[in-house]
Amino acid sequence: MTVFKILQYPDPRLQRKGRHVIEIDDRIREIIKNMFETHYSSENCAALAATQLDMPDPPYITVIDFSDKKNEPICLINGEITDHSGEMYEDEGCMSVRGIYEKVKRFSTVSVRALDESGKTITFTATGFMAKCIQHELDHLNGRIFIDKLSAFKRLRVDRKIQKTRA
Ligand code: NI
Repeated sequence: MTVFKILQYPDPRLQRKGRHVIEIDDRIREIIKNMFETHYSSENCAALAATQLDMPDPPYITVIDFSDKKNEPICLINGEITDHSGEMYEDEGCMSVRGIYEKVKRFSTVSVRALDESGKTITFTATGFMAKCIQHELDHLNGRIFIDKLSAFKRLRVDRKIQKTRA
C-alpha cells in the first residue's frame, strides 16, 4: 500500500491531464487501490483525482467517498459528463488548495458515463453534492482546479491569501 503525496497549488503538475485508460491492468488496479488508501488516510477528503497526486503519467481516474462511515467507495475511470441541467452556486474546497473555500458555479444535475474498476460501463445521474464532486474531479483530470473558475478579482485575493499562509 502506498499513500500518495497530494500535490499542493501552485504545483504546475496540477495542470496535467489524465491519460485515458485503455486497459485496466495491474498497474491501474494498484493505482486505484493506492488512491483509495490516500483518500481514506486524508482528513475531510471527499474525492481525489489521479492528476492531483504525486505520480508519473496519472490515469483518468477519480475515487470518491463522502459517506460518514467511508464505506461507499466509487471509482470512475474515463468518466465523462454526457448531459447536464440546472445550476448551483456553492462553496467548494480542494485537498490541493487547503484552507480555501469559494463559491463556484456548477451544474446541479449531471449524467455520467464511466468505467468501473472491473471495466464495466456504468451510467448514472448525480445531483447535489455528488454532482458538484464529479464536476470538480473531472476538472482536475483536465488540468483545472476550482479556483480557475473564479473571477480575476477573487482569484487574486485567493492567491494573495495562499502566498501569505506560506510566507
Ligand atoms: Ni480538488
